[in-house]
Amino acid sequence: MSRDAQKKLAAEKALEFVEDGMIVGVGTGSTVAFFIDGLAAMKDRIEGAVSSSEQSTRQLQSHGIEVLDLNAVGPLKLYVDGADECDPYNRLIKGGGAALTREKIIAQASDRFVCIIDAAKQVEHLGAFPVPVEVVPMARSLVARAIAKLDGQPIWREGVVTDNGNWILDVHNWRIADPVGLEAKLNQIPGVVTCGLFAARGADEVIIGDQIRPLRRP
Ligand code: A5P
Repeated sequence: MSRDAQKKLAAEKALEFVEDGMIVGVGTGSTVAFFIDGLAAMKDRIEGAVSSSEQSTRQLQSHGIEVLDLNAVGPLKLYVDGADECDPYNRLIKGGGAALTREKIIAQASDRFVCIIDAAKQVEHLGAFPVPVEVVPMARSLVARAIAKLDGQPIWREGVVTDNGNWILDVHNWRIADPVGLEAKLNQIPGVVTCGLFAARGADEVIIGDQIRPLRRP
């Protein structure tokens, strides 16, 4: 089965988590795009969505789904998003589409994070996919030097400006033994807005194709 077919199946399975009257947290990316299309068919049953990017906002609104401000609606019951890598413990690398900061905020604000992926994104250890780090522009070099001291190889995603007006460093060559520890270290570097490791708060459910994958405990 093609990767796109797997993404579509996962997105359709995730629709089963949507309940009547919900405000649904919505991620970003090609897998979520299938989810948004599916959500459109149920739009009269939900109250609206909280969106993690301008891209998803446009797609939601094009279907007539109301996009609400997270501050106005409080905690959410459900967040659905894709990922770039997923380990057996549901820890993730995200941010390939540069939407990591709003994604992490909504994931944190949600009771349940359902992650939808195709099988190629399953890994035993995180790190083959470069870890995106969103930085305040003036701190780019400072953060890059700090990351090099942590044995990563940061490469500036030149030309990309996030929805928050910041820049992205992609960190290559990390074999990540302790994702929670590394996430905490990155968060402490002045100028880092968000890192793309979603380890302290990973996914609650991972759907691959039409299967909900059992969680392995560390
Ligand atoms: C967006 O910044 C990312 O976190 C996406 O969730 C991730 O890159 C997955 O995208 P695809 O569904 O397009 O593979």
